[in-house]
Amino acid sequence: MGGPASTDVAASLAGATTLPALRFLTCGSVDDGKSTLIGRLLYEQNLIFDDHLAALERDSKKHGTTGAEIDFALLLDGLEAEREQGITIDVAYRYFSTKRRAFIVADTPGHEQYTRNMATGASNADVAVLLVDARKGLLTQTHRHAVIASLLGIRYAVLAVNKIDLVEYDRTAFDRITADFFEFAATLGFKDLKSIPISARYGDNVSKRSERTPWYSGPHLLEYLEAVDVEDGRSGKPFRMPVQWVNRPNSDFRGFAGTIASGRVKPSDEIAVLPSGRTARIKAIVGAGGDVEAASAGDSVTITLADEIDIARGDMFAAVRERPQVADQFAAHLVWMSSENMFPGRSYLMKINNSTLAATVTELKHQLDVNTMSKLAAKTLALNDVGICNLSVARPVAFDPYADNRDTGAFILIDRYSNETVAAGMIDFALRRATNIHHQNLTVSKAERSRLMHHRPAVLWFTGLPGAGKSTIANLVEAGLNARGIHSVMLDGDNVRHGLNKDLGFTESDRVENIRRIGEVAKLMIDAGLIVLCSFISPFRAERRMVRGLLDAGEFIEVFVDTPLDQCIARDPKGLYRRALAGEIKNFTGVDQPYETPENPELHLLAGRKDPDKLANEVIEELARKKIV
Ligand code: ADX
Repeated sequence: MGGPASTDVAASLAGATTLPALRFLTCGSVDDGKSTLIGRLLYEQNLIFDDHLAALERDSKKHGTTGAEIDFALLLDGLEAEREQGITIDVAYRYFSTKRRAFIVADTPGHEQYTRNMATGASNADVAVLLVDARKGLLTQTHRHAVIASLLGIRYAVLAVNKIDLVEYDRTAFDRITADFFEFAATLGFKDLKSIPISARYGDNVSKRSERTPWYSGPHLLEYLEAVDVEDGRSGKPFRMPVQWVNRPNSDFRGFAGTIASGRVKPSDEIAVLPSGRTARIKAIVGAGGDVEAASAGDSVTITLADEIDIARGDMFAAVRERPQVADQFAAHLVWMSSENMFPGRSYLMKINNSTLAATVTELKHQLDVNTMSKLAAKTLALNDVGICNLSVARPVAFDPYADNRDTGAFILIDRYSNETVAAGMIDFALRRATNIHHQNLTVSKAERSRLMHHRPAVLWFTGLPGAGKSTIANLVEAGLNARGIHSVMLDGDNVRHGLNKDLGFTESDRVENIRRIGEVAKLMIDAGLIVLCSFISPFRAERRMVRGLLDAGEFIEVFVDTPLDQCIARDPKGLYRRALAGEIKNFTGVDQPYETPENPELHLLAGRKDPDKLANEVIEELARKKIV
């Protein structure tokens, strides 16, 4: 049992040098040996506790894949398993240090959803260690990892050509993979590329030079990581601090807390507050231990100002003469990390510089082919895709292009429904085109128009499968309203698709755009004071919610016209189910495209059982109950 004593571990940790810690990220496919590599590194640095090691030896004999030897992968697999169950989306960070340097390793699992973890781990990493199997060479996933690492601003990449023992320490295999890698990565903007032949299993070139690769004269992996100089120069950049919260313990003190993203400040400096553009002088800077003379990138501080100006969470403090940009539309790279596809027009939440606001991808310009770096035409982004998009946000925000500042130029997109992080984004530049369009204040308001009508405006949103009876019921409702002298308008799928939306088909992305436009039209009609009857399949929850969100509370009445699919198929009023089932029509709701059932509709009509007249009455009664008519 030659395991290190736990006191060695403490000693080794205590011996951490004053060199800045190196943050690195390991990425590779599932079987490339990532866990083994990290396990090996920790073991060779005496960083595994005795009891842990004894357990590891036992487990290796029982479950391991390495015969009598220690299977280092088992050391990390416990953690991996936890993550695979989806308990946390976060990367696991491991800390260790040698005599020369402290390290923070972001270990990103190699399974399908790796971009999510990669983006989290990579956003502050200095070096990416890309693992490949010497027998397989570069895979699409390796390309993707390299592209994402580069997009996320990592400037140092090391290719660890693992399992070199399995190709008999063959130099030509290594040279070929290295040449492929250098050629591929040349355009990705890395400052330094390195390739190292290793065997994580036997320890070749991991933290000591291997005698079995005499043809390799470069550093071993740890040697490289200890020596690489990644000074990021954040302190030398213009001052930026996104305000995280306004600290107001009593009426005499108002401080603005946040982490300085770049630059330096000191009391008496003048700063600008974006997006308002107002300026103020710094009175004091409070650090963890009290007032400080100055603060710089990475410091968490509370700043007080000599001038009283309106400041809220999400505002950005910046150098007066080197201000960030402010825009509500910009071009950005998106790394899509959800198994639900991205659709232009769908509304997401964006988190950027401590603000959370509604955001839409207004245009997907193209998708990036990670193998060739060429631009592909695309309508949607799927899991792990990288796209170049235009985005629009609900109000102007302050930011820098990601190339200038990795902190203030980054954002994430969140699904409004599941709260899941669906994308990591990097801003390329602001789009100026809409900054000269302002909101015109209207003299006559919705309330005044509605007063003339003697009823309140509302949207009745009929949703359901094709053939469920939406239009039939909506027509009966409108006739009933009309007989009562109520002003209404009808928007119906088939009709709108002959005019306003005649350029749209039935792909998922076209349906998203269809409903987005209908939502905007319905909002205009509501402003006109009308009862708007909308009859659309509208199969996706996200868009129904989006329309709801466009309107004031209580204005959107979701009516689920619920007819079982087999009954819709039996009715088949337009003969479309028959053709869809025969394969003649593609993307047909209920056949080869999903319908997402409403979860909390205002009205749930069992349209398979009751007759349409009764159901139409239920709708009108609901309007009366809500005091709309
Ligand atoms: S939605 O999904 O985008 O809301 P919408 O309600 O506008 O659809 O249009 C549906 C109408 O288009 C149906 O009533 C049907 O007559 C017709 N249609 C033609 N092809 C399809 C299809 N592939 N899927 C669904 N409806 C189709």
